[in-house]
Amino acid sequence: MKVVHSIEALRDQLRGQLRVAFVPTMGNLHAAHLSLMRLARQHGDPVVASIFVNRLQFGPNEDFDRYPRTLAEDIEKLEAERDVYVLFAPDERELYPEPQNFRIQPGESLGKILEGEFRPDFFMGVSTVVLKLFSCVQPRVAVFGKKDYQQLMVVRAMCRQFQLPVEILAHETVRDADGLALSSRNRYLSAQERAEAPNLYGLLQRVRDEVQGGRTDAAMAEGRAMQTLRDRGWDPDYVAVRRQRDLQPPTAQEIRDGEPLVVLTAARLGATRLIDNLEF
Ligand code: PAJ
Repeated sequence: MKVVHSIEALRDQLRGQLRVAFVPTMGNLHAAHLSLMRLARQHGDPVVASIFVNRLQFGPNEDFDRYPRTLAEDIEKLEAERDVYVLFAPDERELYPEPQNFRIQPGESLGKILEGEFRPDFFMGVSTVVLKLFSCVQPRVAVFGKKDYQQLMVVRAMCRQFQLPVEILAHETVRDADGLALSSRNRYLSAQERAEAPNLYGLLQRVRDEVQGGRTDAAMAEGRAMQTLRDRGWDPDYVAVRRQRDLQPPTAQEIRDGEPLVVLTAARLGATRLIDNLEF
């Protein structure tokens, strides 16, 4: 694997390559990231991964400074898996040599709901860096995880509206045996919090069962789930049953008609904010 830090070196490595498959990350790689690399390997050649902790997508009170930076270990993991041909790991001066005041603003109906309501500039930051990374790497396909469901939809919408020649592939959420979705932020959890954390996924399954079984309307199931989280010591931002196609709330008729739905949640456990979702 070639590790490059500059855009110029990246372009040198990729000159003439027309089937690049790309996996952008913020590093601190775990088994889910490596699984995304494997999916990329099946859909393009060569595979390019990036590691860049993107300041633009962190709010002023978020964990940018303490976000885990583990480049040496990340390189070892990627080397061992042998799926990645080039790792692009720019520093901030390389990717943001001047203040980034041209920015991508996702539409309000997708960008300002759910995560966008609680992290106001988050999807602006994600869209802007993903567009910049696409411009550097010029991939034909790029892989994103369903764990960050709304992010995947924002990236897809951006590619569609700007007619970017990049196919976006979705990778299923990778979980630990107990159901907790893998995340770089799981390492912040204390032993006690780590034992509680899988209940977030259990709760999503319960909401799904309730709504699917027609026992309650979605709002009631959401409210009950929020209360359960509070009772268990969580501080939830939202539990929301939405249509898969546009993340808007379904009508009762749509639920009865089997509209594809997804229940999404974000909740803090101690100092750690976890997100998860479940399609049904
Ligand atoms: P990061 O959190 O490092 O995630 C990189 C990719 O891995 C994303 O597509 C994310 O959805 C996926 N991923 C993380 N955990 C996963 C899991 N348990 N199952 C499936 N996929 C998972 O997401 C970002 O970085 C950034 O916002 C980025 C897109 C790189 C832009 O800065």
